[in-house]
Amino acid sequence: MDERRARRIRRAFSFDAAALARLRAASLLELERLDDAHAAAFARDAQADFTRLLAEDRLIAFVLCDGAEVVGSACAIFFERLPYPDGTLHAEIAGVYVAPAHRGQGWAARLVQAVVAATERRGVRKTVLHPSPLARPLYERLGFEDEPAMRLRSSPATLDTAANIALHARKSS
Ligand SMILES: CC(C)(COP(=O)(O)OP(=O)(O)OC[C@H]1O[C@@H](n2cnc3c(N)ncnc32)[C@H](O)[C@@H]1OP(=O)(O)O)[C@@H](O)C(=O)NCCC(=O)NCCS
Repeated sequence: MDERRARRIRRAFSFDAAALARLRAASLLELERLDDAHAAAFARDAQADFTRLLAEDRLIAFVLCDGAEVVGSACAIFFERLPYPDGTLHAEIAGVYVAPAHRGQGWAARLVQAVVAATERRGVRKTVLHPSPLARPLYERLGFEDEPAMRLRSSPATLDTAANIALHARKSS
């Protein structure tokens, strides 16, 4: 039997929160942003977050199923920006993960395409993502491009400056 026939992509529902949390932990472990000692606690908290975000309709996710097992995911989380003539709603693609045994067969590309189609149906103004270096070619093939952006460095110097501004504001009010 063609093994690909047993696998399929479907929309995630609230009962998938535990699986989404498990895959998120696996992804962060692989990317070395989480260590083994904290993985179980992280997954517990993440399950609660996924449950809440799905219930609030702030998150759309698609999952790759191998039979009854969830082995891949891609999510979009929605956020508002200040008004533009074409709207305020934006989406960030995240949580793109495919278990190692299923990689290199185009599943991540299909998961991301499904999520992007769903964000477009919501009428988002812009869809963004923050790729890991190895995943860049995947997203470029799917039509993502670089755009200039800046982020605040949370260095002690920055935090000191922020604290000084807050103190100054309090003194002069
Ligand atoms: C990235 C990832 C989801 C790709 O899954 P996949 O189903 O194998 O992807 P596809 O078959 O649709 O596309 C393959 C592309 O994935 C990218 N890729 C391959 N290995 C990768 C890796 N270890 N890490 C990240 N991206 C990788 C490459 O761009 C590859 O394209 P290429 O074969 O032309 O080089 C999967 O490798 C993974 O889960 N990695 C760990 C988590 C991660 O890096 N997530 C992305 C965060 S932005």
